[in-house]
Amino acid sequence: MNETTAIESDLATAGFGGTVVLEIENLSKSFGGLTAVANLSFGVRAGTITSLIGSNGAGKTTAFNLITGYLEPDSGRIVFRGKRVDGLPPHEIVRTGISRTFQELRLFNRLTVLDNVLAAIPGQQGEGILRALRGGRALKADAERNAERGRAILRELMLDDHVDTLAEQLSYGQQKLLGLGRLLAAEAEFLLLDEPTSGLSPAMVEDFCNRMRALVAAGKTILLVEHNVEIVMQLSDWVIVLHQGRKIAEGTPDEIRRNVSVMHTYLGITS
Ligand SMILES: Nc1ncnc2c1ncn2[C@@H]1O[C@H](COP(=O)(O)OP(=O)(O)OP(=O)(O)O)[C@@H](O)[C@H]1O
Ligand SMILES: [Mg+2]
Repeated sequence: MNETTAIESDLATAGFGGTVVLEIENLSKSFGGLTAVANLSFGVRAGTITSLIGSNGAGKTTAFNLITGYLEPDSGRIVFRGKRVDGLPPHEIVRTGISRTFQELRLFNRLTVLDNVLAAIPGQQGEGILRALRGGRALKADAERNAERGRAILRELMLDDHVDTLAEQLSYGQQKLLGLGRLLAAEAEFLLLDEPTSGLSPAMVEDFCNRMRALVAAGKTILLVEHNVEIVMQLSDWVIVLHQGRKIAEGTPDEIRRNVSVMHTYLGITS
């Protein structure tokens, strides 16, 4: 049985539907002598929330950086919708329909909130000749359409009072929302979120969970890195546990919760 078939059969036994849209096969990445991601394989089914969990330094962000082209794997394959994407640069990965947030936000601090969202709308670069041929009026119409979309996203996130505020002047919670706004602006079908709820108030966390459910209901697929195990257990269809770059367990939230060694030894949860 080859690796892909093994992933398929693992997930099939979990009993939830959707084809595997993202397949990670034997992925490895080292930094000098440190192996951050070690021979990692897993699959993500369409229309699900899959969570990657594990203690600090487990390799979660590195896995995201590999999937989104910010790092090149030392070995292994990443297949999205049947097409290999490992080794592609980030802007080409975005074009395939994969978008992400960053653990450390990476907003354009000196740009306004609206411009941060507009900068995340794809297809604004690299179409220069086409756009020039279409002429000024079409360009203006595009810009207006984009601005309206940007405003609609910000309204949805209740940031519409801040469209002209510089990103650096927002509260931390608002900056996290703006990161989410940038993710939504990319209109990708596959979303990776790295620690989206850290530093958010309980009300904002609840709002975030509802948003994630709404996104999945609207047809998106989500891969989540999240330290809050309760949120992971509530939201996820499938949970993958990493430790020192290796996958040490995967399963439904209930299966992971019942795995005493994972909960206790690797996640430090004793109850
Ligand atoms: N660019 C890099 N250069 C050198 N080492 C790195 C680099 N990026 C990550 N590492 C190391 O790789 C390991 C995995 O880091 P990674 O950021 O993927 O962990 P993580 O699971 O996201 O942790 P956290 O929960 O703290 O965000 C860590 O030991 C980290 O120090
Ligand atoms: Mg991380």
